[in-house]
Amino acid sequence: MSPEEQPRPVLPTGYTIRALRADDAPAMAAAYLRNRDHLEQWDPTRDPSFYTVAGQQDAIDRQLSLVHGGLLGAWVVVCGEEIVGRANLNNVIRGVLCSAAVGYWVDHDHLRRGLASAAVEHACAEALDMGLHRVEAGTMVHNLASQRVLLRAGFEQYGMAPRFLFIAGGWQDHNLYQRILHDDPLPVAPAGTGGAGG
Ligand SMILES: CC(C)(COP(=O)(O)OP(=O)(O)OC[C@H]1O[C@@H](n2cnc3c(N)ncnc32)[C@H](O)[C@@H]1OP(=O)(O)O)[C@@H](O)C(=O)NCCC(=O)NCCS
Repeated sequence: MSPEEQPRPVLPTGYTIRALRADDAPAMAAAYLRNRDHLEQWDPTRDPSFYTVAGQQDAIDRQLSLVHGGLLGAWVVVCGEEIVGRANLNNVIRGVLCSAAVGYWVDHDHLRRGLASAAVEHACAEALDMGLHRVEAGTMVHNLASQRVLLRAGFEQYGMAPRFLFIAGGWQDHNLYQRILHDDPLPVAPAGTGGAGG
């Protein structure tokens, strides 16, 4: 399916999804503060500066420079003036892999309305537009809500990685998922750009 034909997810009434912007820092800091308890068991341990506008401005500036370099995709789910969710395409890798890792969360007051599913669908549609072949995701083995989101979005589990990521103060086992976006061949790579041995 070409990127133009890829259907975009339908969000519930009152919600929109859009690209992260440089002026999102106040709304982002407020969102992380509201959701501190909700997110901390699934996230790396945060420095206190993470919950401040200045800390979020630094983070967003760094993320937008990666977006401009084609190494990251970053979107927010918005309801009125509030940011109520995020989806990122992290670790964008080209060459013979052409892959990225999707990450997401939804505000504790807006759960179970299909927002995470729509955000993950959006990220996958954007990944296809970026010319990627595959999107991967890892969830802690007991994160059943996140696993439901991925299965609903067409991901398949392909493994389990013991002690995979340092989350909430420990190296956590993760279930690994992927969604293949298309089976089109890659163009022939110019000399010296990857393959076995470089
Ligand atoms: C996981 C999370 C993103 C789900 O967000 P959401 O917007 O509520 O998810 P959706 O409404 O799109 O639900 C998708 C599916 O998951 C199911 N689901 C959602 N929360 C669930 C829960 N707590 N328990 C069981 N199933 C759940 C929904 O019923 C739906 O399943 P269905 O297709 O069978 O109806 C949200 O709970 C969250 O932000 N968790 C903390 C951060 C996190 O875990 N991020 C992912 C890290 S890998």
